[in-house]
Amino acid sequence: VTLFSELQTYLQSRNYSSIVLISDKNVFPLYGTDLVSRINCHPIIIKVGEASKSLEVATSCWNEMHAHGCDRQTLIIALGGGVVTDLAGFVAACYMRGVDVVHIPTTLMGMIDAAIGGKTGVNIPSGKNIVGAFHQPQKVIVQSSFLNTLPDREFIAGLAEIVKYAIITDVNLFELLENETNRILARDPEILEILLKRCYATKSEIVKADEKEQGVRALLNFGHTFGHAIECASHYKLYLHGEAVAIGINCAFYTSLLLNLIDATLIDRLHELLRRLKLPFSLPEALPAEELLYLMYGDKKTVDGKLNLILVKEIGQAILVKDVKADLVLKVLKKVKKP
Ligand SMILES: NC(=O)c1ccc[n+]([C@@H]2O[C@H](COP(=O)([O-])OP(=O)(O)OC[C@H]3O[C@@H](n4cnc5c(N)ncnc54)[C@H](O)[C@@H]3O)[C@@H](O)[C@H]2O)c1
Repeated sequence: VTLFSELQTYLQSRNYSSIVLISDKNVFPLYGTDLVSRINCHPIIIKVGEASKSLEVATSCWNEMHAHGCDRQTLIIALGGGVVTDLAGFVAACYMRGVDVVHIPTTLMGMIDAAIGGKTGVNIPSGKNIVGAFHQPQKVIVQSSFLNTLPDREFIAGLAEIVKYAIITDVNLFELLENETNRILARDPEILEILLKRCYATKSEIVKADEKEQGVRALLNFGHTFGHAIECASHYKLYLHGEAVAIGINCAFYTSLLLNLIDATLIDRLHELLRRLKLPFSLPEALPAEELLYLMYGDKKTVDGKLNLILVKEIGQAILVKDVKADLVLKVLKKVKKP
């Protein structure tokens, strides 16, 4: 089934008054113009990059939709990476108290993570994803061939989330990553299909069990409390989200080591995999440990001033550790620095 016929079948089953397509300046010329020529929709094209996940850009989308006569029966189609689906999902969640959204992810990060699960949101200057809503997409349509045009750095950043899934739920997936590194980096369609299906299933299952993150869904934040602090401290300029997550995963491993949850051989195994996948795992000198720690306390997972972290016991098994002490985290943040 092609993307277009899947979308067409879906649209025929619904009765939308109008359709808005939100995409970014890179993706729209690649895949958006074709869609616009086939279905009757109004395109809103946003600037490329994390800075578009803002209240200002969301407001401009709402203004444009209202000026265009969009109502409660309008459908929003998000075509792009996580920036587009997070923003468009948020725009959909709030416009007239909620309109339908269909996600068509175009990055690896989007296909295995951002487009699934209904977390939407924007950043504010003091933190990432601080304002948002849970708003499930009506449909997620994945077309793996879109990955062919994705720049290497973006593709590799997406692999960090696959490493995350493997660590928190699935040792076999971790071994697959270890054994098939070359085919993965070559974007072999067969192996990609396996990875996409596996990650999609894992995330959907976790979200189904715990949509609002009262329990098991929190495990998906593995590496992210560190990662978000790293992104924020470097003003979203130094690292892509996935790269920050890879460094965050390494930080979570060191924290687990200091708490005697794992031994050092597991850290070596992680480093070997991240190195082969061409993912970064050390913090640069430029990011002061104290600032990162401060930012970690501002994360959504901090409750009552206590730092709660997802840590690892073995590959395939993550746990929530409550009230991890600041001096221990500081030690970690100093240890994972590049010499
Ligand atoms: N909601 C969630 O559950 C969730 C999960 C993970 C990540 N996220 C969010 O997703 C965002 C990152 O998403 P991302 O990594 O997809 O980045 P992105 O949306 O910025 O896309 C990466 C880059 O690739 C370009 N691009 C996208 N698809 C392309 C294609 N097929 N060919 C060529 N270029 C293409 C984009 O224009 C952009 O320059 C972050 O804001 C992160 O917080 C959200």
